[in-house]
Amino acid sequence: MSMRTLLVTGAAGFIGSNFVRMLARRREPVRIIALDKLTYAGNLANLADLLGDQVTFVRGDICNAELLDHVASEYRVSEVVHFAAESHVDRSILGSGPFVTTNVIGTQVLLDLAKNRKLDKFLYVSTDEVYGTLPEDQPDVKFTEETPLQPNSPYSASKAGGDCLVRSYFHTFHLPVLTTRCSNNYGPYHFPEKLIPLFVTNLMEDKQVPLYGDGKNVRDWLYVEDHCDAIWTVLNKGKFGEAYNVGGNNEMTNRQITEIILREMGKPWDKYVRYVQDRPGHDRRYAIDASKIKRECGWEPKFRFPEAIKTTIQWYRDNESWWRQIKSGEYLKYYDTQYGGR
Ligand SMILES: NC(=O)c1ccc[n+]([C@@H]2O[C@H](COP(=O)([O-])OP(=O)(O)OC[C@H]3O[C@@H](n4cnc5c(N)ncnc54)[C@H](O)[C@@H]3O)[C@@H](O)[C@H]2O)c1
Repeated sequence: MSMRTLLVTGAAGFIGSNFVRMLARRREPVRIIALDKLTYAGNLANLADLLGDQVTFVRGDICNAELLDHVASEYRVSEVVHFAAESHVDRSILGSGPFVTTNVIGTQVLLDLAKNRKLDKFLYVSTDEVYGTLPEDQPDVKFTEETPLQPNSPYSASKAGGDCLVRSYFHTFHLPVLTTRCSNNYGPYHFPEKLIPLFVTNLMEDKQVPLYGDGKNVRDWLYVEDHCDAIWTVLNKGKFGEAYNVGGNNEMTNRQITEIILREMGKPWDKYVRYVQDRPGHDRRYAIDASKIKRECGWEPKFRFPEAIKTTIQWYRDNESWWRQIKSGEYLKYYDTQYGGR
């Protein structure tokens, strides 16, 4: 049997780069074509130390069918793991165009690639945000895979669009698809516009942290390596046409997260927390029932929040130049310096 070759889209982003890193570290017997458009959120520095025999970087847009076909044939791609997305809810409120283009049309173009080239597997990295929001006063209610998709932001609506298209290619064309719907991730290489890395790096710069509304929005937090392990598990053990919830069983309010980070970093609440007006349409509570992936694939999270948040904070301490280059905009020059042209 020939070697498995994975086309990993969005591989220079937060979770995609952690996924490639995990496979390389574990010496999984696969070849990886790391495809990324390098939008503002993509950073080739996330992958730089991994490029070599096992991992090849290709700069490209998932909406470009011709390029994808060329890449798939040149490298004999056998499977797709699809991370590429516009991923920031706040940006989707400012302008939803790029979200629909990449998250819906880009996913459709990739699905056609998999269909036309009869690829072995197609895994779509979806999100728990497709389910909408949960009532705060019923803590026992959680999202299951049967919960109807009721997205509330342009971001989650575009992810739900991709999610539904993936489902349709299974039912209509018998494409061997798999879907994971994961809760909020945290960990190394997280772009510092998202809550945890923004707060940690602001505090390292001795700046205040902006907390939305009353800070009581509840999210389930999962360490990024657990998510990557779940994706790899579903890719190998999942049943085609099925969706799998992935969660940390770790619900916390934004207030609690803020308190933990401030305590870890030795900064007092009153001096460093600034309340800002809530995001419009802000979902109150997400909580995941991840019993199906445990039952069917034997996966459950290994990392616990109290320790993994310390590891995460330490990573930002040890990699100051990584996030300073992002905050200053310097990282955008990385590709130019390495490869010329952007
Ligand atoms: N971060 C989370 O907590 C979380 C939770 C659940 C699911 N997800 C999903 O996981 C995936 C990855 O999320 P992330 O946090 O790593 O996002 P990210 O924004 O850090 O990375 C996205 C990557 O996709 C690339 N990209 C964007 N548009 C592209 C295009 N048209 N063609 C090729 N590449 C393109 C970007 O350059 C970037 O490198 C997304 O699909 C997201 O919806 C994220």
